[in-house]
Amino acid sequence: MPTVAADRLRAIARELLVAAGAPVEEAAIVAKHCVAANLAGHDSHGVIMIPTYIERVGAGHIVPGAPWTITQESPATTVIDGHWGFGYVVTEKAMRLTIDKARHHNVAAATVFRQGHIGRLASYPLMAVKAGMIGLITADSGRSPKAVAPFGGREARLGTNPLSIAVPSDLDGPLYLDMATSAVAAGKVALAAARGETVPDGWIVDAEGRPTTDPRKHRQGGALLPLGASEGYKGYGLAVMVEILCGLLTGLGFGVEPSGRHNDGCFLAVFNVEAFRPLAAFKREVAEFARYLKATPPSDGSPGVFYPGELEYRREAERQRTGIAVEEATWEKLRVLAAKHGLAARLELD
Ligand SMILES: NC(=O)c1ccc[n+]([C@@H]2O[C@H](COP(=O)([O-])OP(=O)(O)OC[C@H]3O[C@@H](n4cnc5c(N)ncnc54)[C@H](O)[C@@H]3O)[C@@H](O)[C@H]2O)c1
Repeated sequence: MPTVAADRLRAIARELLVAAGAPVEEAAIVAKHCVAANLAGHDSHGVIMIPTYIERVGAGHIVPGAPWTITQESPATTVIDGHWGFGYVVTEKAMRLTIDKARHHNVAAATVFRQGHIGRLASYPLMAVKAGMIGLITADSGRSPKAVAPFGGREARLGTNPLSIAVPSDLDGPLYLDMATSAVAAGKVALAAARGETVPDGWIVDAEGRPTTDPRKHRQGGALLPLGASEGYKGYGLAVMVEILCGLLTGLGFGVEPSGRHNDGCFLAVFNVEAFRPLAAFKREVAEFARYLKATPPSDGSPGVFYPGELEYRREAERQRTGIAVEEATWEKLRVLAAKHGLAARLELD
């Protein structure tokens, strides 16, 4: 696997997206979020997605430069139509507006519909943290093909329906939860397939509903399982709530729409900490709480306790230093795209 510096990877992703028709500033936003996912260790949402986004642009499923419009609003709420723009661009703008509304009204929420994939969810609540606020986001994949079986079922009828909540603190790294409500994100199964690896027990079942560790079975009529293994009804319950916030509250609906257009319906909420207690005291206590948890004696064989988000922070520090390992299959796709657009020499991908 080639190991590539974050800056170079961002430049490659940006140039390829521009060659595919994206305005430079939009390409830069998509590249920034994808490489941030690689840095955090979520390679399933990193540059591996660039060829997929380019394919979706080619198919007309993502519309570069799409308008961004508000279809309904009140002082503290907004409904946003992304007109099939890049999800990263649409939702970043939606989060900025929601933070702004929370500045004036302390609590603000928004829904977003008709947009492409938004990638790693933490990116958006972390914007609220920078403004001293608590951020929350949930997403589903609209009515595009499903990945996750409802608890007790063997056919995929839900998305991986992720959620992320981030809070301000005095810690060095940000404290946040960022998780699919399935055992893992579907991209991790695809990544294992791309790398020729197996997946752990409890992630997927095959088309007959039998447990399997072969990641290829997921795309051959199988399904991801909800988070929680034998208590998967909890992950399933969370997935249902996420889909109601992102699919039903947005008006996107549920189930599969045959065109298969990927449509990340989103629900965002921002809470101004100062409306509840002084921000400085809250940040200090969140850090104390994290340190209290981290001081727990480790269980047998465990590397110890981490606060939510800490592993990503550590991985980012390391990958900023050492570079990002890109799997051969992805690197090859980037090379083919660069050659197709006459960029191979400029991007040193020849
Ligand atoms: N846009 C989409 O449609 C979509 C769909 C699904 C997932 N995703 C993204 O995929 C990424 C991966 O999701 P996932 O569910 O596979 O994540 P994961 O299982 O790797 O991690 C989930 C959470 O657990 C925390 N964590 C992991 N190990 C820990 C430990 N030992 N101690 C304490 N905390 C720990 C992480 O910090 C993270 O907050 C996320 O960024 C998510 O937003 C996006």
